[in-house]
Amino acid sequence: MAGRTQAELYARIDSELSWSEAELPERERTKHVHRLHPYLGKYPPQLVEVLLRRRFGAGALIYDPFAGSGTTLVEATVLGMHAVGCDVSAFNCLLCEVKSSRPDVEAAEAELERALGLPPADGPATPWLERWYAPRALAELTGFRRALDGSAQRPVLSTVLSRAARSARRVPHFALDDAREPVLEPYWCHKHRRTCRPVEEAARFLRRYAADTVRRLREYAALRQEVDVAVLHADARDADLPDGIDGVVTSPPYPGLIDYHEQHRYAYELLGLEDRRGLELGSASAGTTRAAVAAYCDGIVEVLAHTRRHLAAGARVAIVVNDRRELYDDIARRAGLQLETRTARHVNRRTGRRAGEYFEEVLWLRPARSRAAAAR
Ligand SMILES: C[S@@+](CC[C@H](N)C(=O)[O-])C[C@H]1O[C@@H](n2cnc3c(N)ncnc32)[C@H](O)[C@@H]1O
Repeated sequence: MAGRTQAELYARIDSELSWSEAELPERERTKHVHRLHPYLGKYPPQLVEVLLRRRFGAGALIYDPFAGSGTTLVEATVLGMHAVGCDVSAFNCLLCEVKSSRPDVEAAEAELERALGLPPADGPATPWLERWYAPRALAELTGFRRALDGSAQRPVLSTVLSRAARSARRVPHFALDDAREPVLEPYWCHKHRRTCRPVEEAARFLRRYAADTVRRLREYAALRQEVDVAVLHADARDADLPDGIDGVVTSPPYPGLIDYHEQHRYAYELLGLEDRRGLELGSASAGTTRAAVAAYCDGIVEVLAHTRRHLAAGARVAIVVNDRRELYDDIARRAGLQLETRTARHVNRRTGRRAGEYFEEVLWLRPARSRAAAAR
């Protein structure tokens, strides 16, 4: 497929949505709860903030059908907007809940303290866990996990456990996102430029992330407005949505890029979360064959058409997407949405091994007026 040329995209750049690394450093992009847990594939909160401020006011009801790590929900709550988020991944819903609910920081701190005091324990472990963790690390994670039972702070404890579990896997430091095999011997580390050893323990990560989580929740608590948030663990094609949605701000998955369940496999294994990966749209494992891309388009059309039926009069939909296959004009039309504007933003500020520059587009849409569209 031809794709848009760089010149075309440059001509449509929205400079208010494009930041250099110096203008928007990682520290800012990961402020307060936005870095409660790593998540591959999120958009920066500052982008969401500008989009929300441009079109919606306090009290508006904002929906994100692909809520992911909850960036839209968090930004909406800070701006005094009510929010509904949907995601097919149970772990992502857990993150959304922890990040966008009003935190009880004192209770979270006390429960984390209690969990850190529990001794290492043997416990039921899956073959996957036994393969990816050293025995000591697994026992420390299992000991901490015991604190989850019956705790009112279970979501916060689970998030800290998962973040520590991510760091304590036997993966090379330079491949935290994409290691395929555990490392069992010392290895040459491209990140630290020296020989590193596979991780043996988890306790220091649990301690570090517990303290970091309390600090971040406290910061967020001071910013969060008194608004309502609902997180739906559902397929966005048929999620149980409220009526009267004033706005949608979302970044959909894209064909063949990321397996969202597999990305946090450790959390599913440790927390026993329900796996609905078969319902993920555009998963990496589904690939990018013609049939896979067609199925992806049908799925996104269903999500947007379903969403459209729950929009309030005058509602607007913002979609942030790297549409290099040029799928979204057709998707929008089929979903009964009419394109109002299509601008580009230049992304050149990624750090680490994923560094590189590319363009994303921001599509603003509204329900189409034609009767044929309304019937869909
Ligand atoms: C690009 S990510 C969204 C990231 C989000 N904007 C953020 O900042 O964290 C796309 C999300 O869509 C979710 N997803 C994929 N298929 C879905 C479906 N059928 N219904 C609901 N969510 C789905 C994935 O689990 C993933 O979290």
